Amino acid sequence: MRKIIEKLRETGFLEKEEFICLIENRNKDSFEYMSFLAREERKKVFGNKVYIRGLIEFTNYCKNDCFYCGIRKSNTNVTRYRLTEEDIMECCKQGYELGFRTFVLQGGEDFHYNDDLLCGIVENIKKSYADCALTLSVGERSYASYKRLFDCGADRYLLRHETADDEHYRKLHPSDLSLENRKECLFNLKEIGYQVGCGFMVGSPYQTVENIVGDLFFIKELKPHMIGIGPFISHCDTCFAEFKNGTAELTLYLISILRLMFPRVLLPATTALGTLDPSGREKGILAGANVVMPNLSPVSVRKKYSLYDNKICTGDEAAECVNSLKKSIENIGYRIVVERGDY
Ligand code: 5AD
Repeated sequence: MRKIIEKLRETGFLEKEEFICLIENRNKDSFEYMSFLAREERKKVFGNKVYIRGLIEFTNYCKNDCFYCGIRKSNTNVTRYRLTEEDIMECCKQGYELGFRTFVLQGGEDFHYNDDLLCGIVENIKKSYADCALTLSVGERSYASYKRLFDCGADRYLLRHETADDEHYRKLHPSDLSLENRKECLFNLKEIGYQVGCGFMVGSPYQTVENIVGDLFFIKELKPHMIGIGPFISHCDTCFAEFKNGTAELTLYLISILRLMFPRVLLPATTALGTLDPSGREKGILAGANVVMPNLSPVSVRKKYSLYDNKICTGDEAAECVNSLKKSIENIGYRIVVERGDY
């Protein structure tokens, strides 16, 4: 195992069989060693800096019906909400004061926010906070729409590919969604000039080790600037209510693999990881992650944006979230910085 891990560090890549071996035969020793090397790699590029992104969950309406997701269209137990431009600007104001220099607008696929409306919001944020980066995470849109939003000032775009295997994709999504279109969106975003993030859930229903290795190969092909991975966590009102959650352990192991594959990539320790394990985000940083994304949404809507059960920080004010996170990051020898943190 050590030989394979060293090869991964030296070359940044492995054969399919080697990746499978690395994942299937993982043990405490390989976990610790990989995590140590990933931390070293991360230190070389980023020192002990951790970047923060302020997540604004501005709508939980969604036209899609993804089998795993709590805000899927057919979940009638969700109270739906939309934030107005004023609400969003207020979140940014609070976030700026707390030291955020990146705002992430995330929502379901909600075409109430057409290009005109969304461009207006993007322009307003970029005009008001010229030293900040703006990230969009609003799902699949046309090339023309992505282009307009980019031209209005959006800098980055998060669109997890969810799984790079066609058959697996169809087990997670209804038939009107396709992996082909998902991938096309990601390549379009890159071509337009966004800093792009893809990613997948760890331990999603029907996922095999081969699927995960397929994800690593796809990520290698896309060469994203950001990679978001987190454990799958079942939501009681979805088709996958009875499925087992992914594990923090495999998520952390994959974070280390990704750090060794892509030393410069922006890699968040996700909220889902923090939900499965109370110190998940800190462990994520220690496994090679370098980004955290605290919630800036108004407390009144937080519980309504439940993609999965038991999501953390749904009752806290933004300031509480950030201050406790700052402390716990410092306790493990890292520090949150006030910077855009571009790729
Ligand atoms: N568990 C974990 N992550 C989820 N997501 C959606 N539903 C779940 C779930 N049940 C992730 C998806 C999506 C991102 C915004 O949240 O990967 O891209």
